[in-house]
Amino acid sequence: MEIKLFCPATIANLSCGFDVMGACLDHVGDEMIIRKSAQKGIRITKIEGADLPLETEKNVAGVAGLALLEQLDVDFGFEIEIYKKIKAGSGIGSSSASAAGAVFGINELAGRPFTRNQLVAFAMQGEVLASGSAHADNVAPALCGGFTIVRGYDPLDVIEIHSPDELYATVIHPQIELKTSEMRAVLKPEVALKSAITQWGNVAGLVAGLYQSDYDLIGRSLQDVIVEPLRGPFIPKFSELKAAAIQSGALGSGISGSGPSVFALSRGKQIAQKVAEAMTETFRTTQIPFEIHVSKISAEGVRIL
Ligand code: HSE
Repeated sequence: MEIKLFCPATIANLSCGFDVMGACLDHVGDEMIIRKSAQKGIRITKIEGADLPLETEKNVAGVAGLALLEQLDVDFGFEIEIYKKIKAGSGIGSSSASAAGAVFGINELAGRPFTRNQLVAFAMQGEVLASGSAHADNVAPALCGGFTIVRGYDPLDVIEIHSPDELYATVIHPQIELKTSEMRAVLKPEVALKSAITQWGNVAGLVAGLYQSDYDLIGRSLQDVIVEPLRGPFIPKFSELKAAAIQSGALGSGISGSGPSVFALSRGKQIAQKVAEAMTETFRTTQIPFEIHVSKISAEGVRIL
């Protein structure tokens, strides 16, 4: 009748893979309760931790849930309670956590007609509401866990990749809001061929590195010559944070999603923690409050608590 879920935060883009690559964090995320109700449709009955609309059609969890509900043949409805821990505009997939949780929970209570991978298409509808664009690079890892590739959008083709065992993420989240829609508006619609060649070489390198657990190759591939140069200037101390991460032994570092969070990937928890200390030292001087997380890449995605 009712399930409680953990809805994980995610790192989208992973430097080179704008709109196509993503990874799932382990213990950073929201909680959600979904229960069956006699009344048909979807009602958001409670939101704690954020000032978000309760109207189903204006809420990302509601919109994603409705997209799924249209495909279900059920004679009951659903109530959703959302306990937000991930702030909106953080760059670690706040809206996607809600959208992924809603479709996962409704699917479970409806007898699991769809796979996690198939649910990505429904969860993506929440992203349209949140940012005006149907990208799946947060919702895919939030649902499927590990690393994900959106091989194609039309039709949607999501590929799941297992994370190398020793890979850890450090994520610093400056408490300023950068709206994804605005951070997409700063991008240029065209890309120079030379930059495209560099970028797709790095995407291929990252995927090969993940498959082969080749940590150095993963590090060499975490480069973004297209999006980062345009978004980096909006993030206080961005280049200093990156440099501090690399100097502390991180494999690579870049903007998490559309920012302002900055991520680094490291081999082993100890290095990831050193990276967190170095990022903390670097950012402290700004007086901007921040949170910092060290997390394994989660193999699971949304999970039942
Ligand atoms: N790929 C998206 C972007 C992720 O960078 O705009 C947003 O979280």
